[in-house]
Amino acid sequence: ARPIIIDCDPGVDDAIALLLALAHPTALNLLGITTVAGNVPLHYTSQNALQICALAKSHTPVYAGCPRPMLRALATAADIHGATGLQGTELPAPTQSLMVQHAVAFLIDTLQQAPEPITLATLGPLTNIAVALIQAPHIAQNIDHIIAMGGAITHGNMTPSAEFNIYVDPHAAQVVFASGIPIKLITLDTTHQVLTTAEHLQTLRQLNTPVGKAAADLLAHYGTPDRERYGMAGAPLHDPCTIAYLLQPDLFTFKSTYTTVDTTSPDNLGRTVIDWWQRTGKSPNVEVAASVNAAGFYDLLLPSLARL
Ligand code: BDR
Ligand code: CA
Repeated sequence: ARPIIIDCDPGVDDAIALLLALAHPTALNLLGITTVAGNVPLHYTSQNALQICALAKSHTPVYAGCPRPMLRALATAADIHGATGLQGTELPAPTQSLMVQHAVAFLIDTLQQAPEPITLATLGPLTNIAVALIQAPHIAQNIDHIIAMGGAITHGNMTPSAEFNIYVDPHAAQVVFASGIPIKLITLDTTHQVLTTAEHLQTLRQLNTPVGKAAADLLAHYGTPDRERYGMAGAPLHDPCTIAYLLQPDLFTFKSTYTTVDTTSPDNLGRTVIDWWQRTGKSPNVEVAASVNAAGFYDLLLPSLARL
């Protein structure tokens, strides 16, 4: 199994991503879950990760990380995910405590001691990863690659130009993008093609399992703001795309680009500046998702959740 660490801010779509990963222990060796402040404050994202583990009957260790972005004040997305981050269902109480070690220390120790390179899947602001890289730059060589959800080729969902994860901590994102680590980035342009339908929610409900019910409840609640605000047909499953990629890479295609993050402009703060047409002539540092097989994505996701 491929060793991975998931860094996240659950969050409804983060929760679905964790469940997808936990459904595939033979493909993915999940060494730990690290949490960060993002969709909701750190206390909630950490608690939510523990409750999702309890729901999936997993004892994967959960490490709480940074409670705020590097420079900016925390902006949250409680309007999308609810005040606690996982609104709309009853989740089981945690069956384990948070680990005592800080997420950044866990990342550094684990990467330093890794017998083989580890893959990082990042589903939230990149604060923990950037702080780990600043503290211990040599860990970069033990990261196989980073598969990240974040950014937008075209339109942002937080501002006209910025996507939430990058907007919340643009400085951290720039540290990570400039690190030399191989990065695959799945932007809103791709995740907005992976929308839930009423039939998907019904399939989940008909599983008649705690996971099926929780997933259907959460997604029913989570879809509403996107539908009302953007007129979308369903809820975009942003974060599960990263795990789907690890399980079935052929669901996605990527394009090599030179990508930076705007950390200074008032209007475009947090924008991923993606050199799609190679105008800068600079060496590519980020592979940006160019297409997704949305039907294939759901063919993977729904049976996976049924296994839990
Ligand atoms: C990203 O922002 C968060 O609200 C979601 O969990 C996802 O990681 C989408 O912009
Ligand atoms: Ca997230």
